[in-house]
Amino acid sequence: MILQQKTQQKTAFSPSPKRSVHVMTWGCQMNVYDSARMQDVLQPLGFAPVNTPEEAEIIILNTCHIRDKAAEKVFSELGRLRLIKEARKAHGQQTLIAVAGCVAQAEGEELLTRAPYVDIVLGPQTYHRLPELLTHVARTGKPVIDIDFPTEQKFDFLPHNKTPQTSHSPTAFLTIQEGCDKFCSFCVVPYTRGAECSRPVSAILEEAHRLVEAGARDISLLGQNVNAYHGTGPDGNLWSLAQLAYALADIPDLLRIRYTTSHPRDMHNALIMAHRDLPKLMPFLHLPIQSGSDRILRAMNRGHTANDYLAIVQRLREARPDIALSSDFIVGYPGETEQDFEATLHLVQQVGFALAYSFKYSPRPGTPAAEADGQVPEDVKNTRLQILQKILHDQQNAFNDQFVGRSIPVLLTSRGRKQGQIVGRSPWLQPVHINGSDHLIGQERLVHITARLSHSLLGNLDENKTSLPQ
Ligand code: 5AD
Ligand code: SF4
Repeated sequence: MILQQKTQQKTAFSPSPKRSVHVMTWGCQMNVYDSARMQDVLQPLGFAPVNTPEEAEIIILNTCHIRDKAAEKVFSELGRLRLIKEARKAHGQQTLIAVAGCVAQAEGEELLTRAPYVDIVLGPQTYHRLPELLTHVARTGKPVIDIDFPTEQKFDFLPHNKTPQTSHSPTAFLTIQEGCDKFCSFCVVPYTRGAECSRPVSAILEEAHRLVEAGARDISLLGQNVNAYHGTGPDGNLWSLAQLAYALADIPDLLRIRYTTSHPRDMHNALIMAHRDLPKLMPFLHLPIQSGSDRILRAMNRGHTANDYLAIVQRLREARPDIALSSDFIVGYPGETEQDFEATLHLVQQVGFALAYSFKYSPRPGTPAAEADGQVPEDVKNTRLQILQKILHDQQNAFNDQFVGRSIPVLLTSRGRKQGQIVGRSPWLQPVHINGSDHLIGQERLVHITARLSHSLLGNLDENKTSLPQ
Protein backbone atom coordinates (compact mmCIF):
# COMPACT_ATOMS: atom_id res chain seq x y z
CA MET A 1 0.00 0.00 0.00
CA ILE A 2 1.01 3.61 -0.37
CA LEU A 3 1.11 5.55 2.84
CA GLN A 4 -0.14 8.93 1.66
CA GLN A 5 -0.76 10.64 4.97
CA LYS A 6 1.57 11.40 7.79
CA THR A 7 0.06 9.33 10.58
CA GLN A 8 -0.14 10.67 14.08
CA GLN A 9 -0.07 7.25 15.77
CA LYS A 10 2.46 6.66 18.49
CA THR A 11 5.15 4.20 17.65
CA ALA A 12 4.61 0.57 18.65
CA PHE A 13 8.37 0.18 19.01
CA SER A 14 9.30 0.83 22.59
CA PRO A 15 12.87 1.62 23.59
CA SER A 16 14.90 -1.51 24.16
CA PRO A 17 18.68 -1.71 24.34
CA LYS A 18 18.81 -4.90 22.30
CA ARG A 19 17.51 -3.66 18.99
CA SER A 20 19.87 -3.48 16.05
CA VAL A 21 20.02 -1.69 12.72
CA HIS A 22 22.43 -2.04 9.82
CA VAL A 23 22.55 0.68 7.18
CA MET A 24 24.22 0.15 3.81
CA THR A 25 24.98 3.34 1.91
CA TRP A 26 25.63 3.97 -1.77
CA GLY A 27 26.30 7.24 -3.53
CA CYS A 28 27.08 10.75 -2.47
CA GLN A 29 28.01 12.39 0.84
CA MET A 30 24.41 13.46 1.25
CA ASN A 31 23.46 9.81 1.44
CA VAL A 32 26.17 9.27 4.05
CA TYR A 33 24.66 12.12 6.06
CA ASP A 34 21.12 10.78 5.55
CA SER A 35 22.18 7.32 6.71
CA ALA A 36 23.56 8.78 9.92
CA ARG A 37 20.31 10.71 10.44
CA MET A 38 18.24 7.54 9.90
CA GLN A 39 20.27 5.94 12.67
CA ASP A 40 19.59 9.03 14.81
CA VAL A 41 15.86 8.72 14.18
CA LEU A 42 15.91 5.09 15.29
CA GLN A 43 18.17 5.58 18.28
CA PRO A 44 15.42 6.74 20.70
CA LEU A 45 13.62 3.50 19.89
CA GLY A 46 16.61 1.55 21.16
CA PHE A 47 18.13 0.63 17.81
CA ALA A 48 21.92 0.54 17.90
CA PRO A 49 24.03 0.25 14.74
CA VAL A 50 25.63 -3.14 13.99
CA ASN A 51 28.30 -3.97 11.43
CA THR A 52 26.69 -6.79 9.48
CA PRO A 53 23.20 -7.43 8.08
CA GLU A 54 23.24 -10.89 9.69
CA GLU A 55 23.06 -9.26 13.15
CA ALA A 56 20.40 -6.71 12.30
CA GLU A 57 16.72 -6.54 13.09
CA ILE A 58 16.35 -3.73 10.57
CA ILE A 59 18.42 -3.56 7.41
CA ILE A 60 18.30 -0.29 5.50
CA LEU A 61 19.69 0.11 2.00
CA ASN A 62 20.26 3.78 1.29
CA THR A 63 20.51 3.80 -2.48
CA CYS A 64 21.80 5.99 -5.30
CA HIS A 65 20.33 6.27 -8.79
CA ILE A 66 22.66 8.76 -10.41
CA ARG A 67 24.49 6.45 -12.84
CA ASP A 68 24.98 2.88 -13.98
CA LYS A 69 22.68 0.00 -13.32
CA ALA A 70 21.68 1.32 -9.93
CA ALA A 71 18.39 -0.53 -9.63
CA GLU A 72 19.95 -3.83 -10.74
CA LYS A 73 22.66 -3.50 -8.10
CA VAL A 74 20.00 -2.93 -5.45
CA PHE A 75 17.97 -5.94 -6.58
CA SER A 76 21.03 -8.16 -6.53
CA GLU A 77 21.87 -6.97 -2.99
CA LEU A 78 18.26 -7.56 -2.00
CA GLY A 79 18.52 -11.16 -3.23
CA ARG A 80 21.35 -11.71 -0.75
CA LEU A 81 19.44 -10.01 2.06
CA ARG A 82 16.38 -12.18 1.41
CA LEU A 83 18.50 -15.24 2.27
CA ILE A 84 19.69 -13.55 5.46
CA LYS A 85 16.11 -12.69 6.38
CA GLU A 86 15.05 -16.31 5.84
CA ALA A 87 18.01 -17.67 7.82
CA ARG A 88 17.20 -15.33 10.74
CA LYS A 89 13.54 -16.33 10.59
CA ALA A 90 14.57 -19.99 10.87
CA HIS A 91 16.21 -18.97 14.19
CA GLY A 92 13.07 -17.16 15.34
CA GLN A 93 14.48 -13.68 14.63
CA GLN A 94 12.45 -11.07 12.83
CA THR A 95 14.09 -8.89 10.17
CA LEU A 96 12.69 -5.85 8.40
CA ILE A 97 14.21 -4.68 5.14
CA ALA A 98 13.87 -1.03 4.15
CA VAL A 99 14.97 0.45 0.84
CA ALA A 100 15.59 4.19 1.10
CA GLY A 101 17.07 6.87 -1.13
CA CYS A 102 16.88 7.62 -4.82
CA VAL A 103 16.33 4.10 -6.20
CA ALA A 104 13.39 3.74 -3.80
CA GLN A 105 12.04 7.06 -5.05
CA ALA A 106 12.46 6.11 -8.70
CA GLU A 107 11.22 2.50 -8.50
CA GLY A 108 8.40 2.95 -5.98
CA GLU A 109 5.88 0.13 -6.16
CA GLU A 110 7.92 -1.74 -8.76
CA LEU A 111 10.36 -2.50 -5.96
CA LEU A 112 7.74 -4.38 -3.97
CA THR A 113 6.57 -6.25 -7.06
CA ARG A 114 10.08 -7.50 -7.78
CA ALA A 115 11.13 -7.95 -4.14
CA PRO A 116 8.00 -8.69 -2.08
CA TYR A 117 10.13 -9.48 0.99
CA VAL A 118 10.98 -5.76 1.28
CA ASP A 119 8.98 -4.17 4.12
CA ILE A 120 9.52 -0.45 3.67
CA VAL A 121 10.20 1.72 0.63
CA LEU A 122 10.99 5.32 1.53
CA GLY A 123 12.26 8.25 -0.49
CA PRO A 124 15.05 10.67 0.42
CA GLN A 125 12.51 13.19 1.72
CA THR A 126 10.66 10.91 4.13
CA TYR A 127 13.17 9.13 6.31
CA HIS A 128 12.16 11.17 9.36
CA ARG A 129 8.94 9.12 9.18
CA LEU A 130 10.82 5.85 9.60
CA PRO A 131 9.48 5.19 13.13
CA GLU A 132 5.88 5.54 11.92
CA LEU A 133 6.57 3.28 8.96
CA LEU A 134 8.04 0.64 11.25
CA THR A 135 4.98 0.87 13.44
CA HIS A 136 2.76 0.47 10.45
CA VAL A 137 4.56 -2.69 9.31
CA ALA A 138 4.55 -4.08 12.85
CA ARG A 139 0.80 -3.47 13.20
CA THR A 140 -0.36 -4.65 9.79
CA GLY A 141 2.35 -7.07 8.72
CA LYS A 142 2.11 -5.42 5.31
CA PRO A 143 4.77 -3.49 3.41
CA VAL A 144 4.57 0.30 3.09
CA ILE A 145 5.70 2.79 0.50
CA ASP A 146 6.32 6.40 1.42
CA ILE A 147 7.84 8.34 -1.44
CA ASP A 148 5.75 11.50 -1.44
CA PHE A 149 7.44 14.83 -1.32
CA PRO A 150 6.05 15.90 2.04
CA THR A 151 4.81 19.38 2.78
CA GLU A 152 6.69 19.38 6.08
CA GLN A 153 10.45 19.79 5.95
CA LYS A 154 12.24 16.67 7.03
CA PHE A 155 14.99 18.90 8.43
CA ASP A 156 12.57 20.12 11.09
CA PHE A 157 11.94 16.58 12.30
CA LEU A 158 15.44 15.28 12.63
CA PRO A 159 16.85 14.73 16.10
CA HIS A 160 20.05 16.65 15.50
CA ASN A 161 20.36 17.22 19.21
CA LYS A 162 21.26 13.55 19.39
CA THR A 163 24.72 14.41 18.11
CA PRO A 164 26.97 12.81 20.73
CA GLN A 165 28.46 15.39 23.06
CA THR A 166 31.76 13.58 23.25
CA SER A 167 34.35 12.52 20.69
CA HIS A 168 32.89 13.33 17.32
CA SER A 169 35.24 12.75 14.42
CA PRO A 170 37.32 15.88 13.63
CA THR A 171 35.52 15.98 10.26
CA ALA A 172 31.76 16.23 9.87
CA PHE A 173 29.08 16.68 7.25
CA LEU A 174 26.23 19.10 7.70
CA THR A 175 23.38 19.20 5.18
CA ILE A 176 22.20 22.76 4.57
CA GLN A 177 20.25 22.45 1.36
CA GLU A 178 18.54 19.74 -0.62
CA GLY A 179 17.05 19.17 -4.03
CA CYS A 180 17.60 20.82 -7.36
CA ASP A 181 15.62 22.98 -9.78
CA LYS A 182 18.24 23.04 -12.52
CA PHE A 183 17.04 20.02 -14.54
CA CYS A 184 20.24 19.21 -16.37
CA SER A 185 18.95 16.97 -19.12
CA PHE A 186 20.99 13.90 -18.03
CA CYS A 187 20.26 14.00 -14.31
CA VAL A 188 17.71 12.25 -12.08
CA VAL A 189 18.31 14.39 -9.01
CA PRO A 190 15.46 16.91 -9.59
CA TYR A 191 13.09 13.93 -9.86
CA THR A 192 14.39 11.88 -6.93
CA ARG A 193 15.37 14.62 -4.48
CA GLY A 194 12.70 17.12 -5.47
CA ALA A 195 12.69 20.90 -5.51
CA GLU A 196 15.41 22.96 -3.95
CA CYS A 197 14.96 23.81 -0.29
CA SER A 198 17.30 25.38 2.27
CA ARG A 199 17.47 24.87 6.02
CA PRO A 200 17.08 27.93 8.21
CA VAL A 201 20.33 29.57 9.31
CA SER A 202 19.63 29.11 13.03
CA ALA A 203 19.23 25.32 12.67
CA ILE A 204 22.50 25.11 10.78
CA LEU A 205 24.41 27.23 13.28
CA GLU A 206 23.00 25.19 16.16
CA GLU A 207 24.06 21.95 14.55
CA ALA A 208 27.50 23.36 13.73
CA HIS A 209 27.98 24.46 17.37
CA ARG A 210 27.00 20.99 18.59
CA LEU A 211 29.34 19.28 16.15
CA VAL A 212 32.23 21.54 17.19
CA GLU A 213 31.51 21.02 20.89
CA ALA A 214 31.69 17.30 20.22
CA GLY A 215 35.08 17.61 18.51
CA ALA A 216 34.47 18.47 14.84
CA ARG A 217 37.05 20.88 13.42
CA ASP A 218 36.40 20.57 9.68
CA ILE A 219 32.78 20.82 8.56
CA SER A 220 31.62 20.14 5.01
CA LEU A 221 28.33 21.83 4.22
CA LEU A 222 26.32 19.61 1.93
CA GLY A 223 23.68 20.22 -0.70
CA GLN A 224 22.93 19.03 -4.22
CA ASN A 225 23.19 22.69 -5.19
CA VAL A 226 24.88 23.97 -2.11
CA ASN A 227 25.81 27.38 -3.46
CA ALA A 228 22.16 28.01 -4.38
CA TYR A 229 21.58 28.06 -0.61
CA HIS A 230 19.02 30.67 0.45
CA GLY A 231 17.85 29.92 3.98
CA THR A 232 15.91 32.19 6.28
CA GLY A 233 18.26 34.09 8.56
CA PRO A 234 17.66 35.23 12.15
CA ASP A 235 16.95 38.73 10.74
CA GLY A 236 14.07 37.34 8.64
CA ASN A 237 15.96 37.86 5.36
CA LEU A 238 17.16 35.11 3.05
CA TRP A 239 20.85 34.43 3.60
CA SER A 240 23.25 33.30 0.91
CA LEU A 241 25.92 30.66 1.34
CA ALA A 242 28.47 33.48 1.60
CA GLN A 243 26.62 35.03 4.57
CA LEU A 244 26.36 31.63 6.20
CA ALA A 245 30.10 31.05 5.73
CA TYR A 246 30.94 34.33 7.52
CA ALA A 247 28.68 33.35 10.45
CA LEU A 248 30.21 29.86 10.70
CA ALA A 249 33.71 31.32 10.58
CA ASP A 250 32.91 33.07 13.88
CA ILE A 251 32.76 29.74 15.72
CA PRO A 252 36.19 29.82 17.40
CA ASP A 253 37.03 26.11 17.44
CA LEU A 254 35.78 25.46 13.94
CA LEU A 255 38.99 25.54 11.93
CA ARG A 256 37.86 24.61 8.46
CA ILE A 257 34.74 25.13 6.37
CA ARG A 258 34.00 23.46 3.03
CA TYR A 259 30.93 23.16 0.88
CA THR A 260 29.87 20.80 -1.88
CA THR A 261 28.46 20.45 -4.55
CA SER A 262 28.35 23.79 -6.32
CA HIS A 263 26.93 24.87 -9.67
CA PRO A 264 28.77 27.42 -11.82
CA ARG A 265 25.53 29.40 -12.26
CA ASP A 266 25.37 30.08 -8.51
CA MET A 267 29.03 31.03 -8.05
CA HIS A 268 28.23 34.62 -7.16
CA ASN A 269 30.64 37.40 -6.33
CA ALA A 270 29.87 37.42 -2.60
CA LEU A 271 30.93 33.78 -2.34
CA ILE A 272 34.12 34.41 -4.29
CA MET A 273 34.85 37.32 -1.93
CA ALA A 274 34.24 35.02 1.05
CA HIS A 275 37.12 32.92 -0.29
CA ARG A 276 39.26 36.06 -0.26
CA ASP A 277 38.20 37.11 3.26
CA LEU A 278 37.86 33.89 5.22
CA PRO A 279 41.02 31.85 5.83
CA LYS A 280 38.75 29.15 7.30
CA LEU A 281 37.03 28.66 3.96
CA MET A 282 39.24 25.93 2.55
CA PRO A 283 41.05 26.58 -0.73
CA PHE A 284 39.47 23.62 -2.51
CA LEU A 285 36.32 23.85 -4.57
CA HIS A 286 34.36 21.10 -6.29
CA LEU A 287 32.74 22.85 -9.24
CA PRO A 288 31.40 20.43 -11.88
CA ILE A 289 31.43 21.58 -15.48
CA GLN A 290 30.47 18.27 -17.20
CA SER A 291 31.76 19.25 -20.68
CA GLY A 292 34.01 21.83 -22.31
CA SER A 293 31.83 22.11 -25.43
CA ASP A 294 29.29 24.92 -25.51
CA ARG A 295 27.12 22.91 -27.89
CA ILE A 296 26.96 20.02 -25.40
CA LEU A 297 26.58 22.32 -22.40
CA ARG A 298 23.54 23.83 -24.13
CA ALA A 299 22.09 20.39 -24.88
CA MET A 300 22.69 19.48 -21.24
CA ASN A 301 20.68 22.55 -20.18
CA ARG A 302 23.55 23.66 -17.97
CA GLY A 303 22.92 27.37 -18.37
CA HIS A 304 26.60 28.31 -18.68
CA THR A 305 29.34 28.20 -21.29
CA ALA A 306 32.94 27.02 -21.08
CA ASN A 307 34.06 30.66 -20.99
CA ASP A 308 31.69 31.42 -18.09
CA TYR A 309 33.42 28.63 -16.19
CA LEU A 310 36.90 29.89 -17.06
CA ALA A 311 35.94 33.38 -15.92
CA ILE A 312 34.77 32.02 -12.55
CA VAL A 313 38.02 30.11 -12.13
CA GLN A 314 40.01 33.25 -12.89
CA ARG A 315 38.07 35.32 -10.35
CA LEU A 316 38.43 32.61 -7.72
CA ARG A 317 42.17 32.47 -8.31
CA GLU A 318 42.46 36.22 -8.04
CA ALA A 319 40.54 36.11 -4.74
CA ARG A 320 42.38 33.13 -3.29
CA PRO A 321 45.55 32.34 -5.26
CA ASP A 322 46.07 28.90 -3.69
CA ILE A 323 42.56 27.66 -4.49
CA ALA A 324 42.45 24.22 -6.14
CA LEU A 325 39.65 23.15 -8.44
CA SER A 326 37.89 19.84 -8.73
CA SER A 327 35.19 18.92 -11.23
CA ASP A 328 32.88 16.30 -12.74
CA PHE A 329 32.85 15.36 -16.43
CA ILE A 330 30.50 13.31 -18.54
CA VAL A 331 31.82 11.81 -21.79
CA GLY A 332 29.62 10.43 -24.56
CA TYR A 333 26.61 12.62 -23.90
CA PRO A 334 24.13 12.11 -26.81
CA GLY A 335 25.41 13.89 -29.92
CA GLU A 336 28.95 14.41 -28.55
CA THR A 337 31.35 14.56 -31.53
CA GLU A 338 35.14 14.22 -31.56
CA GLN A 339 35.27 17.99 -31.77
CA ASP A 340 33.10 18.37 -28.65
CA PHE A 341 35.30 15.92 -26.82
CA GLU A 342 38.42 17.85 -27.92
CA ALA A 343 36.82 20.98 -26.44
CA THR A 344 36.55 19.18 -23.09
CA LEU A 345 40.22 18.19 -23.24
CA HIS A 346 41.12 21.77 -24.10
CA LEU A 347 39.20 23.12 -21.11
CA VAL A 348 40.89 20.61 -18.82
CA GLN A 349 44.29 21.84 -20.04
CA GLN A 350 43.27 25.45 -19.53
CA VAL A 351 42.08 24.99 -15.93
CA GLY A 352 44.45 22.37 -14.51
CA PHE A 353 42.42 20.38 -11.97
CA ALA A 354 43.64 19.10 -8.62
CA LEU A 355 41.09 16.30 -8.74
CA ALA A 356 38.24 15.28 -11.01
CA TYR A 357 35.61 12.63 -11.45
CA SER A 358 34.68 11.53 -14.94
CA PHE A 359 31.89 9.27 -16.06
CA LYS A 360 30.47 7.70 -19.19
CA TYR A 361 27.06 9.11 -19.95
CA SER A 362 24.47 6.72 -18.55
CA PRO A 363 20.86 7.12 -19.76
CA ARG A 364 18.50 7.61 -16.83
CA PRO A 365 14.89 6.64 -17.52
CA GLY A 366 12.59 9.64 -17.46
CA THR A 367 15.28 12.23 -18.21
CA PRO A 368 15.24 14.11 -21.56
CA ALA A 369 18.72 12.96 -22.61
CA ALA A 370 17.75 9.30 -22.36
CA GLU A 371 15.37 9.85 -25.30
CA ALA A 372 17.71 12.08 -27.31
CA ASP A 373 19.05 11.16 -30.76
CA GLY A 374 22.73 10.44 -31.27
CA GLN A 375 23.39 8.08 -28.35
CA VAL A 376 27.14 7.47 -28.42
CA PRO A 377 28.34 3.85 -28.79
CA GLU A 378 29.83 2.23 -25.70
CA ASP A 379 33.27 1.67 -27.24
CA VAL A 380 33.55 5.36 -28.16
CA LYS A 381 32.57 6.33 -24.60
CA ASN A 382 35.18 3.93 -23.24
CA THR A 383 37.96 5.34 -25.41
CA ARG A 384 37.08 8.95 -24.54
CA LEU A 385 36.87 8.16 -20.85
CA GLN A 386 40.31 6.55 -20.88
CA ILE A 387 41.87 9.53 -22.65
CA LEU A 388 40.26 12.05 -20.30
CA GLN A 389 41.06 10.09 -17.16
CA LYS A 390 44.73 9.80 -18.11
CA ILE A 391 45.01 13.59 -18.46
CA LEU A 392 43.08 14.23 -15.23
CA HIS A 393 45.21 11.71 -13.37
CA ASP A 394 48.41 13.36 -14.61
CA GLN A 395 47.05 16.72 -13.45
CA GLN A 396 46.24 15.30 -10.02
CA ASN A 397 49.77 13.92 -9.68
CA ALA A 398 51.29 17.23 -10.80
CA PHE A 399 49.15 19.06 -8.25
CA ASN A 400 50.19 16.72 -5.44
CA ASP A 401 53.87 16.74 -6.46
CA GLN A 402 54.18 20.45 -5.74
CA PHE A 403 53.70 19.79 -2.00
CA VAL A 404 56.73 17.50 -1.62
CA GLY A 405 59.36 19.35 0.41
CA ARG A 406 56.85 21.87 1.79
CA SER A 407 55.25 22.11 5.25
CA ILE A 408 51.48 22.33 5.25
CA PRO A 409 48.77 22.40 7.97
CA VAL A 410 47.18 18.98 8.38
CA LEU A 411 44.13 18.21 10.48
CA LEU A 412 44.84 14.79 11.96
CA THR A 413 41.64 12.79 11.80
CA SER A 414 42.10 9.05 12.47
CA ARG A 415 44.44 6.10 12.85
CA GLY A 416 46.04 4.87 9.65
CA ARG A 417 45.96 1.30 8.43
CA LYS A 418 49.58 0.70 9.48
CA GLN A 419 50.59 0.43 13.13
CA GLY A 420 51.77 3.79 14.51
CA GLN A 421 50.44 5.72 11.55
CA ILE A 422 47.82 8.44 11.63
CA VAL A 423 46.01 10.07 8.78
CA GLY A 424 44.95 13.63 8.28
CA ARG A 425 43.64 15.97 5.67
CA SER A 426 45.33 18.92 4.06
CA PRO A 427 43.41 22.12 3.28
CA TRP A 428 43.23 20.79 -0.31
CA LEU A 429 41.54 17.58 0.85
CA GLN A 430 44.57 15.39 0.23
CA PRO A 431 44.91 12.51 2.69
CA VAL A 432 48.25 12.85 4.52
CA HIS A 433 49.91 9.96 6.38
CA ILE A 434 52.38 10.55 9.22
CA ASN A 435 53.90 8.48 12.01
CA GLY A 436 52.53 9.60 15.34
CA SER A 437 50.41 8.71 18.30
CA ASP A 438 46.67 8.86 18.79
CA HIS A 439 46.76 11.96 21.00
CA LEU A 440 47.38 14.02 17.85
CA ILE A 441 43.96 13.11 16.45
CA GLY A 442 41.78 16.21 16.37
CA GLN A 443 44.75 18.60 16.20
CA GLU A 444 45.85 20.67 13.25
CA ARG A 445 49.65 20.47 12.92
CA LEU A 446 52.28 21.46 10.43
CA VAL A 447 53.49 18.48 8.45
CA HIS A 448 56.57 18.35 6.28
CA ILE A 449 55.65 16.43 3.13
CA THR A 450 58.27 13.88 2.08
CA ALA A 451 56.57 11.94 -0.73
CA ARG A 452 53.55 11.64 -2.94
CA LEU A 453 51.77 8.30 -3.03
CA SER A 454 49.15 7.42 -5.64
CA HIS A 455 46.26 9.35 -4.06
CA SER A 456 47.80 10.74 -0.90
CA LEU A 457 50.85 12.39 0.66
CA LEU A 458 53.39 11.13 3.17
CA GLY A 459 55.09 13.35 5.76
CA ASN A 460 56.48 13.98 9.26
CA LEU A 461 55.40 16.37 11.96
CA ASP A 462 57.32 19.58 11.40
CA GLU A 463 58.90 19.84 14.85
CA ASN A 464 60.66 23.13 14.01
CA LYS A 465 57.41 24.96 13.69
CA THR A 466 54.74 24.24 16.26
CA SER A 467 52.52 27.16 15.42
CA LEU A 468 50.57 27.31 12.21
CA PRO A 469 50.92 30.21 9.81
CA GLN A 470 48.04 32.66 10.29
N1 5AD B 1 25.39 9.79 -16.62
C1 5AD B 1 26.68 9.97 -16.25
N2 5AD B 1 27.06 10.77 -15.26
C2 5AD B 1 26.09 11.42 -14.59
N3 5AD B 1 26.15 12.28 -13.57
C3 5AD B 1 24.90 12.65 -13.24
N4 5AD B 1 24.01 12.06 -14.05
C4 5AD B 1 24.73 11.29 -14.91
C5 5AD B 1 24.38 10.44 -15.98
N5 5AD B 1 23.13 10.27 -16.36
C6 5AD B 1 27.40 12.73 -12.98
C7 5AD B 1 27.60 14.24 -13.16
C8 5AD B 1 27.35 14.76 -11.78
C9 5AD B 1 27.87 13.62 -10.93
C10 5AD B 1 27.40 13.62 -9.51
O1 5AD B 1 27.38 12.47 -11.58
O2 5AD B 1 28.93 14.45 -13.58
O3 5AD B 1 28.03 15.97 -11.53
FE1 SF4 C 1 21.75 17.14 -11.44
FE2 SF4 C 1 22.29 19.39 -12.80
FE3 SF4 C 1 20.92 19.51 -10.48
FE4 SF4 C 1 23.55 18.89 -10.46
S1 SF4 C 1 22.64 20.84 -11.14
S2 SF4 C 1 21.91 17.84 -9.32
S3 SF4 C 1 23.74 17.70 -12.35
S4 SF4 C 1 20.24 18.54 -12.37
